[in-house]
Amino acid sequence: DPSIADLSKDAAARAAVALVEPGMRLGLGTGSTAAVFVRRLAERVKAEGFSLRCAATSKATAEQATSLGLQVEELDEIGWLDLTIDGADEVDPDLNLIKGGGAAHLREKIVATASNRMVVIADQNKVVEQLGQFHLPVEVIPFGWQATRTLIQRALERLSLWPRPILLRKRGEEPLRTDEGNLILDLALEAIPDPEALAAELSAIAGVVEHGLFLNICQLAIIGRPDGSVVTLR
Ligand code: A5P
Repeated sequence: DPSIADLSKDAAARAAVALVEPGMRLGLGTGSTAAVFVRRLAERVKAEGFSLRCAATSKATAEQATSLGLQVEELDEIGWLDLTIDGADEVDPDLNLIKGGGAAHLREKIVATASNRMVVIADQNKVVEQLGQFHLPVEVIPFGWQATRTLIQRALERLSLWPRPILLRKRGEEPLRTDEGNLILDLALEAIPDPEALAAELSAIAGVVEHGLFLNICQLAIIGRPDGSVVTLR
């Protein structure tokens, strides 16, 4: 039920807005949950009239935040961030994440790791016992991407995660291009028993720019519920 998901996202977003302090340097995530956060944040900033410096994880978020009157700057103009609030595609009990369903995980990871604290906001559907049901996005350089796919396949074989489909993400008929002009390969793994081992294998491949596993990056997850309450995982 999409409306129940929307109420849950709003509950999580509101709780995250309460973590924001005047003058903060803030990272803004990407996706539908992050978009609710940006809207609620802009409402609070307008009502209370304080200033913030925001860095966005995608062009889409930068446009949304700017249109709502938030001050958006390049990450390197701000330098370092106090807090980043973002959504996730999956959250496990150790607060490890899969991200990149919106193809923005490269900038999301750069922003999250340039922050003193990363907080995830999500609805209950994103909470899993083990990562991997959601296809794992891997951003790859267009040059030689099929050779890169072969190397990913071999890495999956070494981890006994093969055969599994590796899908080139499309937008309509064309391969999707990320904000950085790269391609996305989605790994339909079903389960990832050892995320650390998979992350190390993927990062070792030359054509891989960044994978969507966020391990030991998130400190707090705020899980919204349709009645407006939240549960926190830490
Ligand atoms: C963007 O690349 C993703 O990492 C998003 O954070 C993720 O897909 C969550 O999006 P929703 O909040 O729309 O589910």
